[in-house]
Amino acid sequence: MTTTPTLVEFDLDRYLRNSKKVDLSDIDWEDIPNHELSDGDVMCLHYMMDIETHTVIYLRDLLATRAATDPQITAFLSCWAYEELWHGEAFADFLRAYGIEEPIEARLPDGRSPLPSHRNRWRDLRVSLGVGNGLGIVPTMVGSMAARDFTAIHMMWGAINELTTLTGYYALIRRSDHPVLHKLLRKVVQDERRHFAFYRAQAKARMERSRTARGMVRWVMKHMWTPVGAGVKSEEEVDALALYLFGNSPEGREHAAGIDETIAEVPGLRGLTLIQDYLDEALARVAERPGWAGIDPVGLSRGNGGPVAPAHWRESEQGRGDVMPATSAVERREEEAMAHRLSNGSGQPS
Ligand SMILES: [Fe+2]
Ligand SMILES: [Fe+2]
Repeated sequence: MTTTPTLVEFDLDRYLRNSKKVDLSDIDWEDIPNHELSDGDVMCLHYMMDIETHTVIYLRDLLATRAATDPQITAFLSCWAYEELWHGEAFADFLRAYGIEEPIEARLPDGRSPLPSHRNRWRDLRVSLGVGNGLGIVPTMVGSMAARDFTAIHMMWGAINELTTLTGYYALIRRSDHPVLHKLLRKVVQDERRHFAFYRAQAKARMERSRTARGMVRWVMKHMWTPVGAGVKSEEEVDALALYLFGNSPEGREHAAGIDETIAEVPGLRGLTLIQDYLDEALARVAERPGWAGIDPVGLSRGNGGPVAPAHWRESEQGRGDVMPATSAVERREEEAMAHRLSNGSGQPS
């Protein structure tokens, strides 16, 4: 095995020194109940809150792999899990300020509670193996690979998770009319952008130097990839979220194509269309089972008592020293669209 150092296009030192809780000190928490959320918006926020909160379990799975032997990766993960924790808290606080108390029951956009009867075979397998996102079954399949090649799979999986998450936040901004939510999501996207950049840089460096890594990552993504949240959420919930954010309109499809194009730019992944394929499969499930992942809005039921605005965000410091510009075409496009939307008065300028 060669000992040439792997060049990674990410300023890890800068990231580590600047990592902090997302700054939501200028969010107008009292104003949140004054604007309506659709049932679909609430579904997305519930899903996103759960996934952000689940990060620590994903971290456990990741640290059980050979990624744990790389000091750069473990340094990143230490800050990353902390930042993701606060994303989950932010969504929980937002829902609470809106008037929905935890624990809230997961609901589809048509108000139904998703039934656990429609199981997903891959997901069940992973859960029975005690892993959340397919990370754990890979080692048994490729046990003798070089550590560096092997870690490329996890880094690429993480990159796709982060990119779909941040694009999903842009998509929720597009779908929702809630101006405070727009502002909150835009702040969270800033963090997700750094996360995506780290994972992509790590994956890319490993894949550029190794044909084995390129082949393995491509095979795993093509045959085993599932959207972020699969394994935590039911198949119907994943479908409902995917269709609500990406499957409902040409704009949604554009988000999905943008993610796929960005993934396809990584060496070895040309031509992969994971997100668009998933949407097609989800639509096929809807066609087979009328009412599946329903999106008809019904009345919202809020918790008892008046909403209370959280106070702890007021303490967070302004700004971060490592503001990262968009690094992919899909991010740049969504950032421009959002700036345009905000300047048209559909949200609060930040
Ligand atoms: Fe996050
Ligand atoms: Fe993230």
